[in-house]
Amino acid sequence: MTADELRRKYIQFFEEHDHVQISGASLIPENDPTVLFTTAGMHPLVPYLLGQEHPAGNRLVDYQKCIRTGDIDDVGDFSHLTFFEMLGNWSLGDYFKEEAIKMSYEFLTSPRWLGIDPEKISITVFEGDEEVPPDRESAGVWESLGIPRERIHYLPRSDNWWGPAGATGPCGPDTEMFIDTGVPGTPGSRPGVSDGKYMEVWNDVFMEYNKKADGTYEKLQRKCVDTGMGIERTIAILQGKNSVYETEVFTPIIAKLEELIERRYGADEDSDRSIRIISDHVRTATFILGDEKGVKPSNVQQGYILRRLIRRAVRHGRKLGLSDPFLGHLAAVVVEIYREPYPVLVEKYNIIIDELHAEEERFLKTLQKGEQEFAKKLPDLLEKQDRTIPGEVAFRLYDTYGFPVEITEELAREHGLVVDREGFDKAFEEHQRRSKMDETSSFKGGLADHTELTTRLHTATHLLHQALRDVLGDHVAQKGSNITPQRLRFDFVHSDKMTSEQIEQVEGIVNEHIQRDLPVTVETMTFGEARESGAIALFGDRYDEIVKVYSIGDYSREVCGGPHVSSTGEIGEFKITKEQSSSQGVRRIRAVVK
Ligand code: ALA
Repeated sequence: MTADELRRKYIQFFEEHDHVQISGASLIPENDPTVLFTTAGMHPLVPYLLGQEHPAGNRLVDYQKCIRTGDIDDVGDFSHLTFFEMLGNWSLGDYFKEEAIKMSYEFLTSPRWLGIDPEKISITVFEGDEEVPPDRESAGVWESLGIPRERIHYLPRSDNWWGPAGATGPCGPDTEMFIDTGVPGTPGSRPGVSDGKYMEVWNDVFMEYNKKADGTYEKLQRKCVDTGMGIERTIAILQGKNSVYETEVFTPIIAKLEELIERRYGADEDSDRSIRIISDHVRTATFILGDEKGVKPSNVQQGYILRRLIRRAVRHGRKLGLSDPFLGHLAAVVVEIYREPYPVLVEKYNIIIDELHAEEERFLKTLQKGEQEFAKKLPDLLEKQDRTIPGEVAFRLYDTYGFPVEITEELAREHGLVVDREGFDKAFEEHQRRSKMDETSSFKGGLADHTELTTRLHTATHLLHQALRDVLGDHVAQKGSNITPQRLRFDFVHSDKMTSEQIEQVEGIVNEHIQRDLPVTVETMTFGEARESGAIALFGDRYDEIVKVYSIGDYSREVCGGPHVSSTGEIGEFKITKEQSSSQGVRRIRAVVK
């Protein structure tokens, strides 16, 4: 079973069970300041899990591209990935535990679908704690399907509770499905112990609670089901492979790399690790650059993660003897693998290749300069008693020359020195705090925060978008938006700095439409109809998918999930506080309402 087949089968199975397929979302979360990337299939659905009506109905299915960078340093082993795809199905107040589990079981075991031997399946359920009782109901459903008690394990919150990526949001106990791979495992091995014997393939979450910012739980308006099946891991298991890197979503990347380095994967463990790191990172970088809301390498937020991935891949390329830019050759293979499920990659092909190349060149120059600088400092460092490079020195190399601390560490090792990593981290954090480089990590607001202020700013963002198009031209397209109760931030395509007259004009138009107290209305229609009706929409939704279109009088029309105020008079006075460059060809506006 290939990834393509698994994706198709999963969607088909749930369509046969009355689910509607929706498009996966961009990797860059919309209006969500708590995380940098979409981390799970449920992430774009949070507003609906919290009670909003979804225009496509109460039973949904999709495949979603996800990025988790939390364990980026573990990448290089046989299983960790920074990018992965997740299949998911959702019930928004429709079915709950019994039906969800029965469908999972049927899809896993029926010969028409995955045909996994039921004898190989083990289950975990939530054991309960002082806040939430044990999930005997789920265990009972599994038993009724024929899973014997000894293969149903009750585990604590750390294993069987799904909380959101941010600190707050919908959550609840889950039940996880594991396949016995036949690997011997450690004594007393059980699901949840990562010794290679039991591999998790699917997670059904039963969402009953909303975790609030103060840490307390409230019951959700309606109970929901959120499930997730990781594609890479599942096909590896179904194909009897020991590692995701042996499946067809990686083997063509590795084959290309083998050709470039003129060496085989599997020849020695050190090179293999580098090969896995490069393959993972180039795949992730390709998806970030080739996203609907494509991000470019930079020193902040998503752009910084992208830069780190590219630079780490280049560094490992150098270890394998590659001294010229090479990532473009690999990215071309990634686009080929995913052209059908992710046509946006094909559309962005040139951007992906050009940006990778430019970043590789920049980095190679940086490396040269940093290495020279390091060589200058070396004699003094070698004199030091403690043979330690102070954190401040490593940070200066990073800050001034863009020299990654890992490289400083590598060079240090070659000369019998070590880097004071703690000191470096401290200097780095201090710098971050000062420049507010990463606003997201310090902001603890709710996922898809729906406070009144945020809602007012959200409607103002639509007016701003249209006003920018009026004043600057139709090339203005949204590149990202991030709204907190304090301010809105809007990134858009435009190459020149705006003049103060243009800023005033835009502000004036927005305020004029606020004063006219225009009604905000919402309609549902297919994505194709929305585009034809002149609504502003991001590329990426499927043509026949049902979406919401918000109109502000007859001034603005945009495909959007909401929420919005009901008429513009509620917004208050609109004020642009800053206009600046965000990245090459992209401007950023910050604005507030009073
Ligand atoms: N949200 C759940 C997960 O990602 C399904 O595992």
